[in-house]
Amino acid sequence: MIEVNDIYFSYDDYQVLNGISFKVKTGEVLAVVGSNGSGKTTLLKHLNGILKPKRGSVKVFGMDTGSVKISELSRRVGLVMQNSDHQLFASSVTDEISFALRNFGFSKIEIDSHVREVLDEFGLYEFRNRPPLSLSGGEKKRLCIATVMAWQPEIVMLDEPTVGQDAVNKKNLRKIINRLSQDGKTVIISTHDLEFLWPINPRTIVISHGKVLTDGSLRSISLNGTVFASANLIAPQLAALASGIGLNEPPADEAQAVEMIKQWQKA
Ligand SMILES: Nc1ncnc2c1ncn2[C@@H]1O[C@H](COP(=O)(O)OP(=O)(O)OP(=O)(O)O)[C@@H](O)[C@H]1O
Ligand SMILES: [Mg+2]
Repeated sequence: MIEVNDIYFSYDDYQVLNGISFKVKTGEVLAVVGSNGSGKTTLLKHLNGILKPKRGSVKVFGMDTGSVKISELSRRVGLVMQNSDHQLFASSVTDEISFALRNFGFSKIEIDSHVREVLDEFGLYEFRNRPPLSLSGGEKKRLCIATVMAWQPEIVMLDEPTVGQDAVNKKNLRKIINRLSQDGKTVIISTHDLEFLWPINPRTIVISHGKVLTDGSLRSISLNGTVFASANLIAPQLAALASGIGLNEPPADEAQAVEMIKQWQKA
């Protein structure tokens, strides 16, 4: 579904991507993690054609992003931007969500039902008549995610979706990501928030200086004690705990960690 073949990209002469390759299958949840400035956002913008590689190629649904219109791709590859203020522009929350739906040719009935659905799902119903820019940072982020989810793209890309989100909203977001994946949608998440990713255990690409350092499930790559530090990231607590007491498999959640520690104490 997505094929990234040895891509290089620079902003003027500032080199950001230095030979990145990977493939993503339909229904996969892929996390892209790395330090500030490592090129995560730049990479995501290559996957919906906003940016084109200077060398190498990106194919999405078999089409080369170099020769396909951005408008064709953006319907099928939805990007929730890192900076909410760059995405929001309408005069009310309802208009913000409806705008793309109207543009993509949804009927009035579909628009009303999709808008209502995401307002409820993202806890935004009470804000439906408010100007988007008057919302709090966390509320704006939820609105940006709701806006993209409303038109149901086949690939959903979330750039730093947990910024400003409290524990309840993060849990809700995890549920939505899992549901999207079960529904056969592809989800790509750029984040520093490894604790958020841990229960999802997605395939994770660690990038550093515009190259892929590691590619594997989050729990399996966490067994390598240095991978996160070399990308300026802190290992998830359960991974650190597992390596601290010499477990060869990190626990999936706190309950499993408690069981493993009890077994370890007995041994
Ligand atoms: N429009 C631009 N013009 C020039 N340089 C840019 C531009 N956009 C990004 N950069 C630079 O490219 C590098 C990669 O930026 P990018 O936004 O892809 O990083 P990131 O991994 O998403 O970082 P963060 O974790 O802070 O979101 C950074 O050093 C950034 O300053
Ligand atoms: Mg970024």
